[in-house]
Amino acid sequence: MCGIVGYTGPGNSVGPIIEGLSRLEYRGYDSSGICLKLDGQLQILKKEGKLDNLKALLKEKNPSSHTGIGHTRWATHGAVTTDNAHPHGNETFAVVHNGIIENAGTLKKELIAEGWEFKSQTDSEVFLVLLTKFFKQTNSTLQAITKAFNLITGNSSFVIIEKASDKLYGIKRSAPLVVGDNKETREAYVSSDPFALIGYAPNIYFPQDGVICEGVVTANAVTINFYELDLSPSTRFKSQSNAMSMDATSKGTYEHYMLKEIHEQAALVDKLAAYYIKNDGRKILDELKGFKPAGWHITACGTAWHAGLVIKNYIEQINRQRCAVEIASEFRYKNPIINQNEVGLFISQSGETADTLACQELCAEKKVSTFSIVNTEGSTLFRNSNKNFLIHAGVEIGVASTKAFTLQALTGYFMSRAMEGTLDNPALFAEVQLLSNRINEICADAESLKVVAEKIYTKKGFLFTGRGVYFPIAFEGALKLKEIAYVHAEGYAAGELKHGPIALIDENIVNIAIVGPELLEKTVSNVEEVKARRGIMVVVGPKDSPEIEHLADLYIGLNFEGLPNLAPLMVNVVLQFLAYHIAKLKGTDIDKPRNLAKSVTVE
Ligand code: F6R
Repeated sequence: MCGIVGYTGPGNSVGPIIEGLSRLEYRGYDSSGICLKLDGQLQILKKEGKLDNLKALLKEKNPSSHTGIGHTRWATHGAVTTDNAHPHGNETFAVVHNGIIENAGTLKKELIAEGWEFKSQTDSEVFLVLLTKFFKQTNSTLQAITKAFNLITGNSSFVIIEKASDKLYGIKRSAPLVVGDNKETREAYVSSDPFALIGYAPNIYFPQDGVICEGVVTANAVTINFYELDLSPSTRFKSQSNAMSMDATSKGTYEHYMLKEIHEQAALVDKLAAYYIKNDGRKILDELKGFKPAGWHITACGTAWHAGLVIKNYIEQINRQRCAVEIASEFRYKNPIINQNEVGLFISQSGETADTLACQELCAEKKVSTFSIVNTEGSTLFRNSNKNFLIHAGVEIGVASTKAFTLQALTGYFMSRAMEGTLDNPALFAEVQLLSNRINEICADAESLKVVAEKIYTKKGFLFTGRGVYFPIAFEGALKLKEIAYVHAEGYAAGELKHGPIALIDENIVNIAIVGPELLEKTVSNVEEVKARRGIMVVVGPKDSPEIEHLADLYIGLNFEGLPNLAPLMVNVVLQFLAYHIAKLKGTDIDKPRNLAKSVTVE
């Protein structure tokens, strides 16, 4: 969701800005733009639609500029139009913005009453106008940034360039921002994501909220200055080297990132087991031995919420501890009942999801310990939580989350076993290896899932059902299918069908029923209910189970043996493949499904 890249230095800024924006395309956007300093003026080029449209414009004009900012916009305030695309600029400044200015409406009215004019419908332009107004009063860019930033509410990051110099400025509140430099080439960068800066900025800096960053390039050096809002020097930033490599982020021989990421899961499962059971991660988990808070509050969104539901089962069944799981956007506004001896656990691939971050903040305010299960080291969630459990999934590019789900749930399983004190049990490592073998087997036989997809992809709707530990997997299977194949799909607890949704069943509705060996007979009767109403039954169940096989139109037999805790993760891989193949048959944009953003940084 919205991407920012800025550059200043001796080279042509267009290259790193466009490369950076291309890398952030996977996050989702609907227009893009760039502002370049050309002949002392700020020149803006913007286009609706794909970044290729902006690239074509740049090819035509072939500009060369030492300082620039670029943006991919995912519309929030104002329609998808060229005027509303970023950057927004005037004679003095150009600004790109991620996030939302919540009081933009009020501020805009006041500014219009003072005689200021607006060219777009965006909240972002309000910041530009405020900057310009305060610059007129103070003749200082830093003071203008401070005054404008102090007036706005909401979570945002801004990057600014100005006519008066070649400096790059950035500031943020609860939204991602990273600054980088390359001392050898004397270049300064800024972005909403360190991924954009791989190979450009070996040193990266994460400013905290309300810290102004200033990138300055002189004939001999590049310097990044950090200021508090009172303009005193700031030390509130974290520096690190940018260790990510681009190799890990190529599609390789796979047709889609999603397919590559599904196939990566078995190896990542092995790697995570080695990390948490045998190597460096072990000391992080050992701290949990015997840990018994009064209760757990898991909050997350989408797929990460489903991983939370899987983890709830572990915490309740293995540790017999109370665990509530809530959708982050609900939890944050419900005045939740939380006590100080409880724990808030936040699950997020990006570590930048606005609603999840708000829940972490809320728990921190209530002095509750905050733990995260997160993929992105250095993300806001990572930085703000008291303890972090990294899932080590590598960059996930496909908008539909696959490997992150598996590794989030597995990390939760390791946490649960760590609390139980059974990490040393050799059976644990063997169980995880078995999971990875079974995932490999599913990947090797993915063609058979394509055949299933071919038989059902034209159907009108899909109901995913599961009981107990498979209930969250039914949710996740349905979410994956609807987001990439654009078909109606819902997840239900198998026993809930007859309380309403069964009314939908006819020969155009597919019921994808997950039938684990647990509660098998109970689930068989649910399958029979659907069959009796001429619904199309696809069953994912134990191999060699004639009692259900004969009820299914299509049967996907799996080996559940030896996986009493991890079978849901195995079944989920089957549903990932089904969603993938159905989407492919429908010809959708699998890696960048319409209307979706990889990282939802607004509420
Ligand atoms: C679905 C999907 C989303 C994310 C959700 C949370 O495939 O990717 O539902 O899971 O937006 O994102 P993170 O995990 O980054 O907090």
